Amino acid sequence: MNCTRYAILCGGARAVLMPPNSFSDTAQIIPRIGVKMYLREIIYSPLNYIGGKQKILPQLLPIFPKNINICVDLFAGGCNIGLNIPATKLYCNDNLIYLIELYKIFQTTDISEILSYIETQIKDFNLSLENKEGFNLFRQQYNEQKKPLDLFILAAFAFNHQIRFNSSHEFNTPFGYQRSHFNNMMKKKLVAFINRIQESNIIFSHHDFEFFDFSNLNNHDFVYCDPPYLVTTATYNDGKRGFTGWNNNQEKKLLQLLCKLHQQKIKFALSNVIEHKGKVNNILVDWIKDNPYLIVNHITSNYSNSNYQTFVRDKQSSYEVLITNYQHEDVNILF
Ligand SMILES: C[S@@+](CC[C@H](N)C(=O)[O-])C[C@H]1O[C@@H](n2cnc3c(N)ncnc32)[C@H](O)[C@@H]1O
Repeated sequence: MNCTRYAILCGGARAVLMPPNSFSDTAQIIPRIGVKMYLREIIYSPLNYIGGKQKILPQLLPIFPKNINICVDLFAGGCNIGLNIPATKLYCNDNLIYLIELYKIFQTTDISEILSYIETQIKDFNLSLENKEGFNLFRQQYNEQKKPLDLFILAAFAFNHQIRFNSSHEFNTPFGYQRSHFNNMMKKKLVAFINRIQESNIIFSHHDFEFFDFSNLNNHDFVYCDPPYLVTTATYNDGKRGFTGWNNNQEKKLLQLLCKLHQQKIKFALSNVIEHKGKVNNILVDWIKDNPYLIVNHITSNYSNSNYQTFVRDKQSSYEVLITNYQHEDVNILF
């Protein structure tokens, strides 16, 4: 499947496929970011979160609505998106409870106390780029005690900084020998991240998305969804992590939920991948066909060959999108 086919599928149903090149160059994007976006520094998560959206933030932010009252980041993960959306009130939700517990500590603890705790733990367990034994001991202690801040320290020293749990809810990422440690860049990002959390009006929750309560939202509000992708693989969607796995059923439920939000005039944006290495998400394609109000924005992902032209030629590429139920040039048109 290529974009021409998407255009036919979507065009027939009046969904709009944005011109493929419109987001291929960050320099073209930046002038379109509203003044409000410039007032705050962009925050990048200190967690190297799988599926994290930090690299495509400059493409996403201009597409989001302006003047949001309540914003919901329903699958918050590393919080790369929610923390960068200006809103009166922000809900960051993710069903990974240990992650949410960590964010709650970031929210309520003095930053100097957090840094001092991290440094003391690193010293006490002699954590370093080489000390695998120390890492394993520390991981064992975390799995016994589940102290929220220890999850951040574990991620700092874990392979690729990955946060991964097994079906018994034990953190099981191996040691990042000679690669991962609590470096200065991570510390800088952590400080900026905690500051943003503490200066914002955020409610953290760990509901399965199905059970999130949207009843207080209206047409001034915005829901951003970055679920696991059906056509790619990640540690949180193989169904073996002790948390609900992502499958066709979950995908359909989410799309139904988005239709319901649209009926209630609540704006939403859904990140997803329509095709990855020749595998097509037909549930998503059918949904786009069936719902003519949807707008499909092409996102140039961080894969090396991911603009439209190379996508057509290179079957290894992904076709990444941001699907919205509003026009981003003038968000008032629809509602
Ligand atoms: C693609 S990641 C989000 C990444 C995030 N946008 C970022 O930039 O860091 C998807 C997230 O969905 C969460 N998740 C998976 N299934 C879920 C469910 N049923 N309900 C709520 N969250 C879920 C995972 O724990 C994961 O953190």
